[in-house]
Amino acid sequence: MRLSDCHNIDDFRSLAKHRLPWPVFDYIDGAADDEITKARNTASYADCDLVPQVLAGVAEIDPSVTIMGRTSALPLILSPTALQRVFHWQGERAVARAAEKFGLWFGISSLATVSIEEIGAAIATPKLFQFYYHKDRGLNRSMVERCKAAKFDALALTVDTIVSGKRERCARSGFTSPPRFTLSSALSYAIKPRWALDYLLREKFALPNLDTHVKQGSGEAVSIAGYFNAMLERGMDWKMAEQLREDWGGTFCLKGIMSAADARRAVEIGADAIMISNHGGRQLDGSRSPFDQLSEIVDAVGGQIEIICDGGVRRGTHVLKALSVGANCASGGRLYLYALAAAGQEGVERAIAILKDEIERGMRLMGVTRVGQLGRDRLRWR
Ligand code: FNR
Ligand code: LAC
Repeated sequence: MRLSDCHNIDDFRSLAKHRLPWPVFDYIDGAADDEITKARNTASYADCDLVPQVLAGVAEIDPSVTIMGRTSALPLILSPTALQRVFHWQGERAVARAAEKFGLWFGISSLATVSIEEIGAAIATPKLFQFYYHKDRGLNRSMVERCKAAKFDALALTVDTIVSGKRERCARSGFTSPPRFTLSSALSYAIKPRWALDYLLREKFALPNLDTHVKQGSGEAVSIAGYFNAMLERGMDWKMAEQLREDWGGTFCLKGIMSAADARRAVEIGADAIMISNHGGRQLDGSRSPFDQLSEIVDAVGGQIEIICDGGVRRGTHVLKALSVGANCASGGRLYLYALAAAGQEGVERAIAILKDEIERGMRLMGVTRVGQLGRDRLRWR
C-alpha cells in the first residue's frame, strides 16, 4: 500500500499501521479501557442523516469560518497532539506547514517535540498552544510567557486529564516517552527499520517546552500515564483556570468540556471557546461522545461562547453534521496523525485535501454555499 492508495482517513490508518512499530501505532490508535467511547465518537455521527436540498446554485461555495477571531479556510481544526516526531521524523513541522498551506488552525501540545518558538516563527496561520497545568508553577509560567513571546493566537487548557485514562494497549506494549528499546519491544522496532533508522539517526528526541523544568518524559523514559499522574496538578479547579486565562490575557479555550453545566461555567470565567471533547476516548471510557452532547451544549451556551466539536471526525459529512447541530467548527487528531505517521508532510497534506474535498462536495450535494446555512432543519435523527 502506498500514499496514492489512500482515499479516506481509514486508508491512512492502514498505511500507518504498516509503517509503524506496533507500540507507536497503538499509542496513536489506542484509547482507554474497552475503547467504547473512542468507537462511539465516530459511530454517533451515523445516528442522524443529512437532508439535502437541490437546485440551489452551488457553483461558488465558501467553506471558511471565523473561529477564535481568526479566519479558517475550512470549519476544521487540527487538534493538538503529543510526541509527533515519534510518529514521523518531520513531526509538528510537517503538520504546521500543511495547516498553513490549507489555511487551518493548528495546535501544538505541551508535550510537543518542536519548540513554541520554532512553531511561532515558522507559520503565519493561526496557532494554538495546548496547556497542561503542571504542579510546577514555574513551568506553567514559563509556558505562558513563551507563548506570548512567540505570538500564539490562543491557549487551550486541557481539563479532561486530571489523571491519565487507563490505556491498556500502552500498558501491554510498554510504550514510553521517549520510546525505550527494551528486550521485549526490540523486535517490534527491528521489523520496521525505516522508522527505527529515522528515529535513531535524525534529530534527537526532546520535549522542548518542558525540558527546562523536567527531565521525565524528555530525558528520562516514562509512560504517558506515569507522566500525567506524577506531573499534572490534580487539584486544578475553576479558580486556577480563570487565573490562567488572566495570566495569558489572550484568546482562551477550555478543551475537554462535556457537560452543559461546565459550558456555562466556561462562559462565566470569560473563556472564548470550548472544545467539546473526551480526548479521543483516551481518558474516561464510557463518556458520551462530543457529537451526542453537542445539541444540549449548543442550547445552553450557543452564541455566548464558540463551540468546537472535537473527536471521532473521519469524514467531511461528520463536519457538516456537527455544524448543522450548531458547532462553530469541528476538530480532530487522528484524522491527520495517521497520515503524518504514514507519510510525513505529504501525507498530512493529502489527508487535509481529502477532507477539504469531502466538505466541499458535501456542501454542494447538501445545496449550501456557506456553512452558516446548515442548521438542525437539515438533519433527521433515526
Ligand atoms: C491526543 N490528544 C491530546 N490532547 C491534548 O490536549 N494534549 C495532548 O498532548 C494530546 N495528545 C494526543 C496524542 C494522540 C496520539 C492522540 C490520538 C490524541 C487528544 C486530541 O487533541 C483530540 O482531542 C483527539 O485526538 C480527538 O479525537 P480523534 O479526532 O483523534 O478521534
Ligand atoms: C495523550 C496525551 C499526551 O492523549 O494527551 O496521549
